[in-house]
Amino acid sequence: MAPETPGRETQETLSNLLREDRRFEPPADLAAAANVTAEAYEEAAQDRLAFWERAAERLTWEQRWETALDWKPPFAKWFVDGKLNVAYNCVDRHVEAGHGDKVAYFWEGEPGDSRTITYADLQKEVSKAANALTELGVGKGDRVAIYMPMIPELPVSLLACARIGAIHSVVFGGFSATALKSRIDDADAKLVITADGGFRRGAPSALKPTVDEAVADCPSIEHVLVVRRTGQEVAQTDKDVWWHDIVERQSAEHTPVAHDAEDPLFILYTSGTTGKPKGILHTTGGYLTQSAWTHHAVFDLKPESDIYWCTADIGWVTGHSYIVYGPLANGATSVIYEGTPDTPHRGRFWEIIQKYRVTILYTAPTAIRTFMKWGDDIPAKFDMSSLRVLGSVGEPINPEAYVWYREHIGGDRTPVVDTWWQTETGAIMISPLPGVTAAKPGAAMKPLPGIVADVVDDQAQSVPNGGGGFLVVREPWPSMLRTIWGDDQRYIDTYWSRFEGFYFPGDGAKKDEDGDLWLLGRVDDVMLVSGHNISTTEVESALVSHPKVAEAAVVGATDPVTTQAIVSFVILRGAAEEGEDIAKELRDHVSKTLGPIAKPRQILIVPELPKTRSGKIMRRLLRDVAENRSIGDVTTLADSSVMKLISEKLPSAASED
Ligand code: WT7
Repeated sequence: MAPETPGRETQETLSNLLREDRRFEPPADLAAAANVTAEAYEEAAQDRLAFWERAAERLTWEQRWETALDWKPPFAKWFVDGKLNVAYNCVDRHVEAGHGDKVAYFWEGEPGDSRTITYADLQKEVSKAANALTELGVGKGDRVAIYMPMIPELPVSLLACARIGAIHSVVFGGFSATALKSRIDDADAKLVITADGGFRRGAPSALKPTVDEAVADCPSIEHVLVVRRTGQEVAQTDKDVWWHDIVERQSAEHTPVAHDAEDPLFILYTSGTTGKPKGILHTTGGYLTQSAWTHHAVFDLKPESDIYWCTADIGWVTGHSYIVYGPLANGATSVIYEGTPDTPHRGRFWEIIQKYRVTILYTAPTAIRTFMKWGDDIPAKFDMSSLRVLGSVGEPINPEAYVWYREHIGGDRTPVVDTWWQTETGAIMISPLPGVTAAKPGAAMKPLPGIVADVVDDQAQSVPNGGGGFLVVREPWPSMLRTIWGDDQRYIDTYWSRFEGFYFPGDGAKKDEDGDLWLLGRVDDVMLVSGHNISTTEVESALVSHPKVAEAAVVGATDPVTTQAIVSFVILRGAAEEGEDIAKELRDHVSKTLGPIAKPRQILIVPELPKTRSGKIMRRLLRDVAENRSIGDVTTLADSSVMKLISEKLPSAASED
């Protein structure tokens, strides 16, 4: 989610306030058997392209590439003239290698139903679905919109598209009819794949009516393919085809044909907090190379013994790369869970880990902070001794949340990998390696081998250790976005114009005294206080390090004296009392932790924070509250009642409107 307009011009450096001395060395046994060792950094530094070519060799190519990289900035082609089939790499080759009986997915429905899908099952299902798509007139290069709950037919649909060379565009099942329609129109999609609904929070939640509303007004759509999941009543239109009618009767044989390494694989829309959604375009060869290699390296995935679970929705890039493509290319066994973490009880995640003996867990800071808020006693009831690696993605992870995750979920045994990347980067870019890195809580540490990232100042000069500024990527990488669908100019303007020759993701970052990287959130969120650029992330982390605080969001509000003043919105932990002095106590705590310059002007205790559907805090709306403005566009808010709850709680900063 890079910004529409690059960061504030006044920003030269970002103050480096937070000090963190804790270190977690890799466990000795993990380090001794790690998939990737420290040598990988040297190998990649010596010859980056040869390093990525070796990573590409982990895949099965029908025709080897001629050239690793063709770079006409900012347009890249990777593995030029190579040919491969992504679905073959994710499914068939494992069956051919004798692993047909190996489980690809343990699927757990929210009501407690479950399905076990082996690689041989997956091969049959994907083949049938590919045959059905062909019968529905979908061919290579056509766009297919996918709007589904987290059921097995969802990864099957992605793989069926990949198999025939159709381009999928998954739209998260929580989006509105308007959002779905605009994405269908932008991609000019021919088919929508959906379901009657899915189970969420203990009840069926309908999807089909939203599709009907969107499609009524989408001339490009020829058919709507509908999976029956909940058994809810659905209105039928003349475009509808039931999955069980058309897919089930197809042949379970389908011969995959190889596609060009640069043929499109998928479009995924990212909206950021404002503006028209951008259709991020990914292609096949480079994308699969990097998603598979990073999954192997960052999670130390051992396909023979690991049970891997990424809790993201496949509607986000995390699910594309680390539920579907990366894990399957590596022949992993994964868990997929349909529902929410609090159904039917707040220990559901830990119960799933116990049931399947999950060894690797990949989740988001927003979830971790919610679990902290619910209390330590909940995970303590479950046996999670199988876990050996934990991952985090989506936002900066506050050091306190990191340590809680490691202790209460990982039994103080497991490394935590804080993985930085974006929809646009396609795969992980900056992360510790669990068998190599002595990790610092809250730091993504170093660019992975083969990735050349840096922190620069306003003039594109690399900042020294101890300094802060803008994160940039200096060299192209295999899974980079190729463009914005249908809009090369916007691709250039958004990502490649702020710093000549560098990719600008829109994030602020700092290098600590050792040169390790700390991601500090979107540059649009950086505050300017009495001439200092202060990141919201650091102040939030300082607040969360107070034992009474579960979650915090910080914004800069216009101030006549200091340009901006720090206003903090705080959710207290379950047990903490909302006493008179809590605001003073927290302000003093921040002042002591980061220095007086970072002391919030105001602390507001709130019951909830406004978040996007992917769990990111919408600071823009909190700025509206802090500056006593009427609240702006709330259409991307996950729960629209939250702003009302917040405004009601605010004696001093409440909005009149
Ligand atoms: C933005 C990308 C990556 C898949 C999920 C989100 C923020 C992501 C981290 C992290 C600090 C992070 C950045 C980035 N972000 N991971 N480990 N530490 N910030 O994909 O929706 O495209 O969002 O999420 O701001 O630019 P996305």
